Amino acid sequence: AWTMPNYIDEAIIKIREQVGDEEVILGLSGGVDSSVAAALIHRAIGDKLTCVFVDHGLLRLNEGQMVMDMFARNLGVKVIHVDASETFMQHLEGVTDPEQKRKIIGREFVEVFQHEAKKLPNAKWLAQGTIYPDVIESAGAKTKKAHTIKSHHNVGGLPETLNLKLLEPLRELFKDEVRQLGIALGLPHDMVYRHPFPGPGLGVRILGEVKRDYADLLRRADAIFIEELRNTKNADGKSWYDLTSQAFAVFLPVKSVGVMGDGRTYDYVVALRAVVTTDFMTAHWAELPYDLLGRTSNRIINEVRGINRVVYDVSGKPPATIEWE
Ligand code: XMP
Repeated sequence: AWTMPNYIDEAIIKIREQVGDEEVILGLSGGVDSSVAAALIHRAIGDKLTCVFVDHGLLRLNEGQMVMDMFARNLGVKVIHVDASETFMQHLEGVTDPEQKRKIIGREFVEVFQHEAKKLPNAKWLAQGTIYPDVIESAGAKTKKAHTIKSHHNVGGLPETLNLKLLEPLRELFKDEVRQLGIALGLPHDMVYRHPFPGPGLGVRILGEVKRDYADLLRRADAIFIEELRNTKNADGKSWYDLTSQAFAVFLPVKSVGVMGDGRTYDYVVALRAVVTTDFMTAHWAELPYDLLGRTSNRIINEVRGINRVVYDVSGKPPATIEWE
């Protein structure tokens, strides 16, 4: 009978057969898929797996810390933490076009990853957290030559340039199966049920030019929003984080006037975005309770100096997209 423990045993045998004595490298993003792939492969081959975690400076608050705690400290996985934020920021200077920003972030990511991979000459395999829907999607894209509305960032091109064989142990699984597998492998519930986060990260949530200061403000505003979503429950005791499919803050580089104490402020605006969707192709804006929105707004304005106005995005997809860029 099909059970998760049986599945894990079989997957481990398969990975060991495939890889033999060779070493594996994996790009850890903090997302569900690469995390579950890392946990599974580590279970199979232990120290022969090395993960590379590239911090492009556009991650959520404490993301690097969280990944290192979970994988390096708790699971004993070998993880190389690369702080490449300086390089990414330099390359993004003066760039305002969303697609251009995506291209730069994608290209730099590959660059940094390759640089790290070359330091591991014994690695013969590149592991990726490709899941079944990704396989379908890219097959469709090839035949239809579908014009992409947004060039979705992935690490395509890496195996070719690095001469690595591909290891994709999640290729046959749907998202909910990947989550079950993650739980069975001992990953925390909050990580396994995390909202999706785009590859270019905050790079597409800071409108126009990306600056480190903007990213720092946005990270803190976003963390407050997420915390309030996690802590606020509906009548059935479900958190609004779990009731929404994706939620985040967006940084608007426009200043508006406010008052604080006796003084006038002239600061930036943050937009909150929360959607409910099953396929991310269409989405409804989430009907969040006013008290949750109010608390989040108060906290952001009080705690994040530099933000004096918070607005809520009530646009559906279509015609709006989920991300603002
Ligand atoms: P949109 O904004 O197109 O987003 O409605 C649909 C889903 O795709 C994610 N998204 C991306 N993911 N690289 C990614 O890896 C990207 O460039 C990118 N752009 C959008 C978005 O977060 C949402 O889940």
